[in-house]
Amino acid sequence: MHYYHFLTLFSLCNFLPSGYSHGRLLDPPMRASIWRFPEFNYANPPVNYDDDAFWCGSMQTLYNQNGGKCGVCGDNWADPPPRSQEDGGKFGKSIIVRNYTSGQTIPLTVELTGAHDGYFEFRLCARNSRSEPETEECYNKNLLVLSNGSTRLPATRRKGIYKTTARLPPGVTCSRCSIQWHYRTGNNWGDCNDGTSAVGCGNQEIFRGCSDVAIT
Ligand SMILES: *[C@@H]1O[C@H](CO)[C@@H](O)[C@H](O)[C@H]1NC(C)=O
Ligand SMILES: *[C@@H]1O[C@H](CO)[C@@H](O)[C@H](O)[C@H]1NC(C)=O
Repeated sequence: MHYYHFLTLFSLCNFLPSGYSHGRLLDPPMRASIWRFPEFNYANPPVNYDDDAFWCGSMQTLYNQNGGKCGVCGDNWADPPPRSQEDGGKFGKSIIVRNYTSGQTIPLTVELTGAHDGYFEFRLCARNSRSEPETEECYNKNLLVLSNGSTRLPATRRKGIYKTTARLPPGVTCSRCSIQWHYRTGNNWGDCNDGTSAVGCGNQEIFRGCSDVAIT
């Protein structure tokens, strides 16, 4: 009897996510969060109450099922593209939420509803047509530099609003650009690939979101 209960508890714990971080990109509003901003009501953005949970399916899904691969906008890699938050997916209606100019310093705002250390990065995929693929390679071409010269904004254990600014790459214009928020948490113990192990190394939760913008 006791043994049975122990087993049940043990199995339940295996199904619970280890960290429980959560978050969303609010400026520029990511595709799955546009519905939170009344100024975009005209475009009838799809509602998603779980817009703080684009974490590649789950930690389990990301590493055990998908070998560490995540959709560019935080969906389960195993979902058929375009995945829900990708352009053309359920939330990817190509609603341009900001107009920027090339080289401009832009505000970036993230809300964490659960916080577990780690850091944020922001990337720009500069497409001029929706038919150009929105890929990891496209986002990797422009890792945005934050105003203090770093590319990573550290997250802490604090929930709430995180604000920073980044400079858009000079000379890059695009009518169908998108900005990717990438949040790698840092509270799990893991292998650092150098013979040591520490908190923050190895497998961590990943959260992502993508926003449609235009840069002239
Ligand atoms: C961006 O600029 C276009 C063209 O001028 C305009 O139609 C659109 O309303 C602007 N969008 C936003 C979010 O400011
Ligand atoms: C930039 O600011 C963050 C805190 O917001 C800090 O952790 C980081 O070390 C800074 N980077 C540089 C290069 O000053």
